[in-house]
Amino acid sequence: MNTRSRIRTMDDFRDVVYDFRLPRLLVTALDLDVFTLMGNRFWTPKALAKALHANERGVEILLRNLETAGLLKKRGTSYAGEKLCRTFLNRKSPDYQGAWLNLLHSQWENWSHLTDAVRTGKRIENNGPDDPEYRRSFTWAMHQRSLKAAKQVAAQLDLRNTKTLLDVGGGPGTYALEFLRKNSGLRAGIWDRAAALEVAREIAEPLRHAERLSYYPGDLFESPVPGRFDVIWMSNVLHIFSPAENQTLFRKLKRALNSGGRLLIQDTFLMNKPGFDVTETNLFAVTMLLYTPTGNTYRARDVQQWLKTCGLKKSRCLQLKKGTGDWDGVIIEGRV
Ligand SMILES: C[S@@+](CC[C@H](N)C(=O)[O-])C[C@H]1O[C@@H](n2cnc3c(N)ncnc32)[C@H](O)[C@@H]1O
Repeated sequence: MNTRSRIRTMDDFRDVVYDFRLPRLLVTALDLDVFTLMGNRFWTPKALAKALHANERGVEILLRNLETAGLLKKRGTSYAGEKLCRTFLNRKSPDYQGAWLNLLHSQWENWSHLTDAVRTGKRIENNGPDDPEYRRSFTWAMHQRSLKAAKQVAAQLDLRNTKTLLDVGGGPGTYALEFLRKNSGLRAGIWDRAAALEVAREIAEPLRHAERLSYYPGDLFESPVPGRFDVIWMSNVLHIFSPAENQTLFRKLKRALNSGGRLLIQDTFLMNKPGFDVTETNLFAVTMLLYTPTGNTYRARDVQQWLKTCGLKKSRCLQLKKGTGDWDGVIIEGRV
């Protein structure tokens, strides 16, 4: 059964619960760093078990299932990784997406505390968001996760008349950098925690267009907005905060917009349109319950109302080309 269809029968229920098996298998493959070890070679289960210091029967069953899932190919009794395993999942590849994989991997354990989170409304105990080590690895994960979408957004967002842009909670600067790459007359700044900006500096370092990038360390609520801007870009920040906190932020950002300026908000929104699938947006709210004190996901219509309340009277939903951008490709624009 497709998890996105509704659970009606006991069989549906069982099938959906059993969907945990493949994700659990993938987490084990990551635990054992199987894809790095396999590299570009074919392995028999016996040889791989020896190299992994693992049990041959265990490894044979793991490999068989990874092949069924499409990650491995089989020749005789040997297995080798498909392209994804040899690149994004392989520590030795320049394309390795390690920080993002670590974030996905840590969620397996963290989601096991969901019952407590639902009972108490409190996020799970982990390294706080201000822990520099956690922030560093999270910021790299955001970059790996957002790069493709950022290029697509930059290609479609009209910033021709924009001279200055602030990337609020811009973390690794993935979006700010793509906007700069695409728009040679633009100057941009990233406003985020100092530890996140360290990663941004590393990413920006070899890039020529990063000469037009500024870094503003600070707290979104405690620090003043670092200047005035034509466009304020706020991607994947809204869901971290409560409606009241978001409105406090909107008021503050509105005061930092130049005349005719725009606040652009990218996030996962609940859309009021026929056939819209709410599954991902609703599930992402669970992630916010687990990781943030007040975060959630919101209806686009409510966010537009908050913008209006905060003085950004003219708002609309921009829709990127199907299958591009982050989430469903919806960006809410509020204008002064
Ligand atoms: C989910 S990430 C989004 C990163 C990037 N905008 C993107 O879309 O890929 C949220 C960012 O907001 C920043 N952030 C959250 N709360 C903050 C606060 N109170 N002060 C400064 N930055 C904050 C985090 O450090 C993080 O870089």
